Amino acid sequence: MQLLIPTSTRRLAPSKPFHLHRTSQCFNFGKNLILKRCYSQPKRGSYASVQPEHIHALRNILSNKTSLLTSIKGCDATVESVSESELDSFNVDWMGKYRGNSKVVLKPKSTEEVSKIVKYCYDHNLAIVPQGGNTGLVGGSVPLYDEIILNVGNMNSIRSFDEVSGIVTCDAGIILENLDNYLAEFDYTVPLDLAAKGSCQIGGNIATNAGGLRVIRYGTLRGTVLGLEVVLPDGQILDSLSTLRKNNTGFDLKQLFIGSEGSIGVITGVSLLAAPKLKAKNVAVFSLDSYDAIQRAFIKTRQHVGEILSAFEFFDQAGHRIQQVHSRNPKKIFDAGRDAAFFVLVETTGSNKDHDDQKLAALLEVLIESEIVTDGVLAQDTAQFTSLWELRETITEAAGKTGKVFKYDVSLPTSLMYSVVEATRKHLAELGLYKGEGSDGKVKSVIGFGHFGDGNIHLNVISDSYDPEVQSALEPFVYEFVAKHRGSISAEHGLGLQKAPHIGYSQLPLNVDLMHQIKSILDPKKLFNPYKFVYRPPLE
Ligand code: FAD
Ligand code: MLT
Ligand code: ZN
Repeated sequence: MQLLIPTSTRRLAPSKPFHLHRTSQCFNFGKNLILKRCYSQPKRGSYASVQPEHIHALRNILSNKTSLLTSIKGCDATVESVSESELDSFNVDWMGKYRGNSKVVLKPKSTEEVSKIVKYCYDHNLAIVPQGGNTGLVGGSVPLYDEIILNVGNMNSIRSFDEVSGIVTCDAGIILENLDNYLAEFDYTVPLDLAAKGSCQIGGNIATNAGGLRVIRYGTLRGTVLGLEVVLPDGQILDSLSTLRKNNTGFDLKQLFIGSEGSIGVITGVSLLAAPKLKAKNVAVFSLDSYDAIQRAFIKTRQHVGEILSAFEFFDQAGHRIQQVHSRNPKKIFDAGRDAAFFVLVETTGSNKDHDDQKLAALLEVLIESEIVTDGVLAQDTAQFTSLWELRETITEAAGKTGKVFKYDVSLPTSLMYSVVEATRKHLAELGLYKGEGSDGKVKSVIGFGHFGDGNIHLNVISDSYDPEVQSALEPFVYEFVAKHRGSISAEHGLGLQKAPHIGYSQLPLNVDLMHQIKSILDPKKLFNPYKFVYRPPLE
């Protein structure tokens, strides 16, 4: 048993903000870019194609020459065209699964520029994909055909910060980690954290209603976003940028845009309630021999450290093995437990180190004595804190290095959460596609990990390529399984292109109809992020 109980000499005393793992925007294209053969691709809508005269007009809207990138030739001398491959980082998604064919990327510098661009596209029937850091995992952030990419990454200023209320107002294109670093100077933090923090943008986070690692502590963005500024599909600027915590005057319009995945406007400004950055942090990782033990550990954890609990994450053996193979950290921090069936990461955040240490020590004692956990490590310093978090946070990156990943991000009743992994393994094995972890079947690995405390599991199926046979073995199998147990086919990543056709597994027809009506009111020409989210192909 490697479990270390905190003592006064083994204190985690972080004096500086922690820097968790940064994910660089690594595009791993390979030759297996699919996905067109794997599902019935919607037909291109009857949108205009971008012509040199459109480029000239759009160029004239932008204050900076470098804000327009195009591979279209034949424009005037003020526009220098680039090769198609130079647009790859905008056209291809983070997983290398979806590739669009846009010939124009616009990176405006202000809300007014966004508004004029959008109005021009509206008048000329040009389709648009709003884009942030392009770290989305469901194909929502890249075009399907030649839609114009409107990337807000050049809009990255803090507009105001109120140190008393903790309310920050900023541009939507600021990178999440940069926003967090800014707030850290005032002892505040963004109430959202995820492994893509070094690349994703706050606007993209809000557009996907990203969950991440600390929902258990701070709730979702639906509670912490106080206001939004949005450019609507006809170019009008909706100023809903409230900095009030309470405002019961009519419908809460900003909620429509949280999680709207670029389908009804471009988020350009954000006001957000930051959380105090508390200095006492502890993290521990435990090994457990059954999924049932995780559930029991969760009950005990909430009973003992509920008020300081800031994360309760889990991963299975297969996920851990993959992470270890690709770990950049040669020193194995948790070697003893590597053969365990499951692992749990518990983080506490509070304002009184002694108090938190005592509480955590009591929890560890209970978990050990009741034999709920089989082994564990408690971070003793900042380096160990980071290393323990890496065990969980870098699984996504490691899976991408292992092969092509079919990702499912589902909510299920807690007791059933892991059964989606077991059922998928069994199903793939029966079809002869999976012969066990690391074997030579078409499917190399099936892993489960995620946000246990939120009832959200990530099922990742790793194959050598985005093989249509694997795809059709998984879909609708996974969606049917989730629907049967009244779960959600998208807990936090959104619908994007991948799940747009499958919304009916988690939403009733009336709900979907209402969503289409809202889309039609705000985007009557259906120019915004077509083919995704709530989408119905036009009648023939
Ligand atoms: P993009 O990927 O650029 O876009 C995502 C969607 O939002 C698209 O539909 C796009 O059209 C729209 N959009 C982007 N910006 C705007 C805007 N300004 N206005 C309107 N629409 C916009 N997600 C989680 O929920 N939890 C996690 O823990 C998590 N971890 C991740 C870890 C890794 C390593 C990676 C690669 C991704 C992870 N994700 C996670 C997925 C993810 O949704 C986020 O990375 C993030 O919220 C997307 O932000 P982005 O700026 O990259 O947006
Ligand atoms: C995570 O929780 O790590 C993310 O949502 C990313 C993923 O699902 O791969
Ligand atoms: Zn997640």
